[in-house]
Amino acid sequence: MENQWVKRFQEYFPGNNDRVRLFFAPGRVNLIGEHTDYNGGFVFPAALTIGTYMAIRQRNDGVYRLKSENFPLEVSIDTKQPIVYDKADDWANYPKGILQQLQKLGIQLSGADVLYAGNIPNGAGLSSSASIGMASALGFSVLEKEELPMLELAKLCQRMENQFIGVNSGIMDQFAVGFGKKDHAVFLDCQSYEFELIPLEIEGYKLVITNTNKRRGLADSKYNERRAQCEQGLEIIQRHIEDVNALGDLRPLQFKKMEAHLADETIKKRVRHVVTEDDRVQKAVAALENRDLLAFGLYMKESHLSLRDDYEVTGLELDALFDIQGQQPGCIGTRMTGAGFGGCTISIVEDGQVEAFKQNVAANYKQQTGLSPDFYVCEIGDGVKEIKEVKR
Ligand code: GLA
Repeated sequence: MENQWVKRFQEYFPGNNDRVRLFFAPGRVNLIGEHTDYNGGFVFPAALTIGTYMAIRQRNDGVYRLKSENFPLEVSIDTKQPIVYDKADDWANYPKGILQQLQKLGIQLSGADVLYAGNIPNGAGLSSSASIGMASALGFSVLEKEELPMLELAKLCQRMENQFIGVNSGIMDQFAVGFGKKDHAVFLDCQSYEFELIPLEIEGYKLVITNTNKRRGLADSKYNERRAQCEQGLEIIQRHIEDVNALGDLRPLQFKKMEAHLADETIKKRVRHVVTEDDRVQKAVAALENRDLLAFGLYMKESHLSLRDDYEVTGLELDALFDIQGQQPGCIGTRMTGAGFGGCTISIVEDGQVEAFKQNVAANYKQQTGLSPDFYVCEIGDGVKEIKEVKR
């Protein structure tokens, strides 16, 4: 893909070849730790080898011409005018939001011609938005010779989601897209931003993503509502226990003692998910480090059940996949991944069983839902970067 890039760019934006630069940001898959990031808990995502490519050549008039090979819509932004969200700008709101955030930091915006192409399925819960956001944040800032630390890029990209797009997401996606490393997963404490890269030693098994092909948009999903319910729960708990800054600080035993105070059944369930999930992530990572993949797989299944019963973000399609996949020979762990409400599952499947897994799951899922799933056997790759070796 890299080698055709400058040529493709040239077709859209004729001009000096030598000044075209190329960036790549991956998508991510979360192995365990769902809806814990904005609760100050732990997550365990990994960067994928699929993602967003961005070719860019600087201009000097403050204008950004944004094109994509995935969507026909092209958008031109004059950064001398206020940069505001516009629904009609669709996908281009992500790079626009990044420009607005860079402007807020006082970074000069010279303008650029930009061509994107991505191979992450949209709305599948594999973070196509953090991917285009992080590619843009790195590319736009590097062109201005502003080398922002990776954590700052991730936070800037999160602010873009929160303030510009209007989704109150946590830091997990941007962090994984930024700090991911080939064949490793990122064990991240979302409160302190301390993290450890854990080798994914899963010889004999493959990580298989299954896309429900039920599309969902985060902005119109119940995501913000779930987050608000967690905040309500936290407020009640803080009346009774000191030193709890976030639900991620609450240990399972403390939660047991708190249950009586959480009168609202829905709020209680939301808090229970966060507390048990946070505990599971830590245990699952320890299991992986002990090379106990079977235990890791069981934690994945428990995670799904908690997301289904307590957090209520799965839905018919994800639950159908979960049930079907759990019964397949060689599938030792499976769960929904990402925000939920559609999107994908992630499963650990024995090497020799992957083909049978795909066939059986596709047939059964189609029968139950009328939808055809897609499968991606995952490769775990590196975080966002500039691709320097480009044929021109
Ligand atoms: C989305 C958000 C993340 C995280 C997950 C759920 O991917 O962008 O911040 O909250 O949902 O774990």
